[in-house]
Amino acid sequence: MRNGGKRLAAAVAGIALLMLAGCGEGDTASAPVTLNEREATLYQHSCKTCHEDAATGAPLTHNTAAWTPRLAKGEDALLESIVNGFNGMPPLGQCIECDGNDFMALTRFMAAPAPENAAGETAE
Ligand code: HEC
Repeated sequence: MRNGGKRLAAAVAGIALLMLAGCGEGDTASAPVTLNEREATLYQHSCKTCHEDAATGAPLTHNTAAWTPRLAKGEDALLESIVNGFNGMPPLGQCIECDGNDFMALTRFMAAPAPENAAGETAE
């Protein structure tokens, strides 16, 4: 699947959607979040390499204390950090296939507590 320029367009469309949907979502971080198969693959190939390695300085997956101040910025600001990069966080999180919805699903997954049956793993 090679659809070059459409990826960015998809990310931008995702941002617009998230801006519309962003209001009123305050407490999504308290329950474990699971990834679908596509998101799990994206996670394994990109976010995981840093967000499960404390040496990178990234807020670690399922470390809710580390994520609380991030979430407080609001999802729009987080998405902007992802798309444009933020200090050690590379632009697009090195995931060129991810769209805006993927980024926020992955962020919510990382910011949420671990699923009880598979700590740190992407339970179905
Ligand atoms: C090359 C390493 C690396 C990869 C790959 C990576 N991240 Fe990050 N990420 C970081 C680091 C380091 C930070 C902390 C940056 C800081 O606060 O200085 C971070 C921070 C973040 C933040 C918080 C930004 C903020 O404004 O506080 C979000 C959200 C995020 N990453 C999402 C993702 C997602 C989603 C992926 C996968 C698509 C991903 N990251 C992949 C290294 C990475």
